[in-house]
Amino acid sequence: MNFEIITNVSHSNAHGELFVFENLKNVPFAIKRVYCIKNVPSTSIRGGHAHTQLEQLVICLAGSCKFLLDDGTTKTIVELYSPQQGLFIGKNLWRDMYDFSPDCILMVLASDFYDPEEYIRDYPTFLSICSA
Ligand code: TYD
Repeated sequence: MNFEIITNVSHSNAHGELFVFENLKNVPFAIKRVYCIKNVPSTSIRGGHAHTQLEQLVICLAGSCKFLLDDGTTKTIVELYSPQQGLFIGKNLWRDMYDFSPDCILMVLASDFYDPEEYIRDYPTFLSICSA
């Protein structure tokens, strides 16, 4: 499945925690956009889409949440609970995000600008793209 957990980002010591993400180094694409998600009600499910071109790296800066990733054949659940790891989500992966803790803050690094036309929001369409 086209995802990866990026580790070894932490430079923490007795004086605090520092996490580094760099273009084309531990981030496997050139970053064009950064957005954050917070204050998600614990019963909310976000995402519900895939991207044909966009690649993303998700970092959970605080709290926790779960990602259901689906490549059209296999589903897997990844829990994010620390900025010590980043979740790389490649192309053509359906994602649902849920079980947000009240303090959850997600930071998302993206390989391109926002383009609503590039989203696949219809699950049957996603499955037909996967099997093409
Ligand atoms: P959406 O992609 O549906 O969020 P999620 O995948 O977390 O459920 O985006 C929610 C709203 O924010 C939608 O109206 C589009 C807008 N938006 C932007 O304007 N720019 C962006 O970069 C993103 C990610 C969303």
